[in-house]
Amino acid sequence: MVKMTHPIDIDKIVSQLSLEEKAMLVVGRGMPGSSGNPPSRVPGAAGETYPIPRLGIPPTVFADGPAGLRIKPVREGDSQRYHATAFPIAVMLASTWNPEILYKVGRAMGEEVKEYGVDILLAPAINIHRNPLCGRNFEYYSEDPFLSGEMASAFVKGVQSRGVGACIKHFVANNQETNRYTIDTVVSERALREIYLRNFEIVVKKAQPWTVMSAYNKLNGSYCSQNKWLLTKVLREEWGFQGFVMTDWYAGDDPVEQMKAGNDMIMPGKAYQVDKSKKDEIKEIISAVKEGRLSEDVLDRNIRNILRILSQSPSFQGYKYSNKPDLDDHAKISYEAGAEGLVLLENRGVLPLDKNERIALFGTGQIETIKGGTGSGDTHPRYVINILSGLDLKGFRIDRELSNRYKKYVDEMRQKDEYKPKGVPWSPIIPSLPQDIITEDEVEKYAQRNDVAVIVISRISGENYDRKPIKGDFYLSDDEKNLLEKVSKTFHRYGKKVIVILNIGAPIEIESWKNLVDAILLIWQPGQEAGHIVADALIGEINPSGKLPVTFPKDYSDVPSWNFPGTPPEDPKKVVYFEDIYVGYRYYDTFGIEPSYPFGYGLSYTTFEYRDLKTELKNDVLIVSFTVKNTGRRKGKEVAQVYISAPRGKLDKPLQELKAFYKTKLLMPGEEEKIKLEIPLRDITSFDGGEWLLEAGEYEIRIGASSRDIRLTGKITIEEEKTYKL
Ligand code: BGC
Repeated sequence: MVKMTHPIDIDKIVSQLSLEEKAMLVVGRGMPGSSGNPPSRVPGAAGETYPIPRLGIPPTVFADGPAGLRIKPVREGDSQRYHATAFPIAVMLASTWNPEILYKVGRAMGEEVKEYGVDILLAPAINIHRNPLCGRNFEYYSEDPFLSGEMASAFVKGVQSRGVGACIKHFVANNQETNRYTIDTVVSERALREIYLRNFEIVVKKAQPWTVMSAYNKLNGSYCSQNKWLLTKVLREEWGFQGFVMTDWYAGDDPVEQMKAGNDMIMPGKAYQVDKSKKDEIKEIISAVKEGRLSEDVLDRNIRNILRILSQSPSFQGYKYSNKPDLDDHAKISYEAGAEGLVLLENRGVLPLDKNERIALFGTGQIETIKGGTGSGDTHPRYVINILSGLDLKGFRIDRELSNRYKKYVDEMRQKDEYKPKGVPWSPIIPSLPQDIITEDEVEKYAQRNDVAVIVISRISGENYDRKPIKGDFYLSDDEKNLLEKVSKTFHRYGKKVIVILNIGAPIEIESWKNLVDAILLIWQPGQEAGHIVADALIGEINPSGKLPVTFPKDYSDVPSWNFPGTPPEDPKKVVYFEDIYVGYRYYDTFGIEPSYPFGYGLSYTTFEYRDLKTELKNDVLIVSFTVKNTGRRKGKEVAQVYISAPRGKLDKPLQELKAFYKTKLLMPGEEEKIKLEIPLRDITSFDGGEWLLEAGEYEIRIGASSRDIRLTGKITIEEEKTYKL
């Protein structure tokens, strides 16, 4: 737990505040730079708090987001640039299964936050991937709450090690963008406790984040930001949260209810300027106190929560920020995180490549490589190395003529209105370009004179919109498929290889085309160092060691959350989580549905052997130890996963659940590592009404290289059932 000191006398300040000032402290200053509000001290920041100079309270600044600090790189009349590093998207960070990398990324982002004059980073975003089509899945870690919680805890610790705050969002069950401001998420308490709340609980307990952002949606009928059960009972009383809660931007509809529920701060404030039907929060809070509808004690409590945290912030401490974070060092960290987050999905003996091989690069994604998604999860880095230049700089022998054609094509097409960004400017929809632009004869020519075809397939999504189960989105478009078929057929006829690079933020359908090609490398949206990461992986300087934090289903019809995004589908008011606790692999594994690529899956250029499993039960802790050995010819890292299959007694249970994992060090050929992991028994319980239940019976311990590649099994017996408090 992070120790917090608060050098200011909060009680004294609270006693000196007027009612107006109190209301100002719990409401943001308005969206900076819009609706007549002054711009933020840090242009591009998402919000600011009111200062109260007479009491020495400065304004504090909050800025997004999960893939890097999101501020404006260019300021009027100022020749300096304010770029921040674009790190890999969160789902790629989770694919590393390496908390140390998350800590490093968090620490690097924290430095940028601090040196650019920001106090709180509005990240990490940790909503569960309930459905592959949620438009913001790229910003979120995983379908599994344990992996998500562990990775996000390390990230939060990294950010906060710089003396700035993190914000875990969006609390809770905010798993879609369709009608996100009003949708009512209807979900059982068991699914909430075991899946949707679980990762937040882990982060709160392990990393004490400074802040939590309550979500837009309603939870079982009441807005998350107005839900006392959620924000006070669960978050503070049960989990011991010590920071403050802020709303998501313009969330909810009743400032007084927000105050009472324990939603300490309303952001960005002055919602009435945007939505006239909404109340002026400050005036409403003042009159509620005057009319006895809101106790001043509640207001004071919320202010204490806020000041306890903000008094630690750089702004309060008078920190003189440099506007010069160490971007060069952070570029290396971004590269390192991307390198560990690559997931090799297929490799039929073709990768890594030899540098002398001649490469024909297909697809506009070689030029328009997607670094990350749109909306508040976007970033403005100094540069993005696209795949073409990454390969070029590495010295690969690229078919220039072909790549130049793509360059020209992209330039021409983006001039046309049809292919310009659409939708709201802060989160545009970027239309995909048709991909089938090379004729069969031309492919023939490229196949003759090159050794390898590399085809880039890209997708981008973002805040405000969900993806769709249609061609060009979840499925390949007809022209993408034509390109794949044409290139594979022709290159294979000449005995040449075909590799697909998937530059995407969430699962797409792969099953129908995976056998057309020889290798598939999932690079997600890897941030600014994209091209370097791809080049180094193709050549084998990076040995892919990422594993999937989400299942890739064979078809959309296999997905358990079949009613996404709610009913009626065109304009849903409500979304019922009928699949309950059976989210992701918990569903696929329990009900025998075979995915294209299971949770936890990922290949390597080397091979690993697992042996010597030992299990032991000691003082309510399960101790699991085993050895992993690199049995191949290249150095590499392995992600060993511990699943537990609990007895199905009183309660229904998934076939297995992830309860521990470990990423090995870089193992040389022949080298091995002994691994020892501890799992508190409380973590293998199920929610049973008002408590956690550990049922008696036999528990199978399954050590796997993925959820469907179990290498070692063991058993422990729990003689007597046991319960644990919430
Ligand atoms: C998003 C948040 C973000 C906030 C401020 C909202 O629209 O949902 O994730 O932090 O805007 O930009």
